[in-house]
Amino acid sequence: MSEELRIGVIGCGAMGRAHIQMWESVVGARVAAVCDGDERRANECAAQLGAIAFTSPQRMAESGLLDALDICTPSGLHAEQGLIGARNNLHLLLEKPIDLNIEKVDALIAECNARGLTLACMLQQRTFPALQQVKDCIEAESLGRLLSCSAYVKWWRSAEYYSSSAWRGAWAMDAGVLANQAIHTLDMLCWLAGGVDEVEYAHLETANHTIEAEDNALAILRFENGARGVIEATSCAYPDLCTRIEIVGTNGSVAFDNANVVTFGFDGEDKRGLLKQEVVDEGGGRSNPMAISLQAHTAIAQDFVQAIRERREPLVSGRRARVSLDALTKIYRKAFPNIVLGRE
Ligand SMILES: NC(=O)c1ccc[n+]([C@@H]2O[C@H](COP(=O)([O-])OP(=O)(O)OC[C@H]3O[C@@H](n4cnc5c(N)ncnc54)[C@H](O)[C@@H]3O)[C@@H](O)[C@H]2O)c1
Repeated sequence: MSEELRIGVIGCGAMGRAHIQMWESVVGARVAAVCDGDERRANECAAQLGAIAFTSPQRMAESGLLDALDICTPSGLHAEQGLIGARNNLHLLLEKPIDLNIEKVDALIAECNARGLTLACMLQQRTFPALQQVKDCIEAESLGRLLSCSAYVKWWRSAEYYSSSAWRGAWAMDAGVLANQAIHTLDMLCWLAGGVDEVEYAHLETANHTIEAEDNALAILRFENGARGVIEATSCAYPDLCTRIEIVGTNGSVAFDNANVVTFGFDGEDKRGLLKQEVVDEGGGRSNPMAISLQAHTAIAQDFVQAIRERREPLVSGRRARVSLDALTKIYRKAFPNIVLGRE
């Protein structure tokens, strides 16, 4: 491996360009090549960076110019393109969701494990320090036995947002509000409360947009630890509401608004003073997907680079990202038993 990790970014759209900017702040890595099916986009980004442009992920992966791929294409392509990278011995950072199809993700995790490759996912909210501290308290059972673990994601996406690219809201490439917008919050919920054992009820509908998949969803979850909870997600809320997570245990409770801890207590006391650092997240992305800070993305990318160097599991490894994909899959399968998620 070269001194600096040589990164190839696949997908030079909105998020790919944000990642290209992000890599400038990551120590020990540089973007050496970019790839997009749209040749003009690939050439534009490559020229800006002095990098090599490709239009084929396969050719880029085989080029010998790279140590790792950063995959920022539509969600239904992540695992397939990841597998191309893994078969060429490239480490992988995949945008969220890690993919839409859990069987493809399992195959990718197995391939990476067999080859000793690092696989990470851009679920950047897991880097928020206050969340980690709350998680430590939950794991230490300070909140007692968890009873109720719920999340509410009531956002707005316009008709123009969905019509801006054919993949948005399409089952094979994006799925709906749960897989695209709510996945960060579902992931935080599963990270804090543990995996979902069973989905007891799910109502998914396409209510207010001309798309294939759901823009309004409600599901009742039973977690592996026995707690119950609901997830409500919509891209129809205008104006949008703050994103909320609520966890109630027999000995305490915690609530986050837009990932800021607003309530946190156990043993009958307010414990917010325990938190060394409050998250400052004004809830960017609720109405405009690109109104987000890149600070947490950079932390995930930096951790990815260090995990490769130190040969350790990254903060959000493929294995860890799989937990919320599993919950997502169970919700979709409860609502639509015969559904095929992702590309066939
Ligand atoms: N982590 C976050 O906060 C966050 C925020 C927004 C989007 N995302 C994720 O990023 C991904 C991309 O979203 P976006 O908004 O940038 O989409 P986009 O449509 O703006 O960009 C996708 C790009 O991929 C290219 N592409 C499509 N198929 C390709 C192929 N087979 N080979 C090479 N290039 C191909 C397209 O030409 C386009 O340039 C999605 O998975 C989305 O969920 C993550």
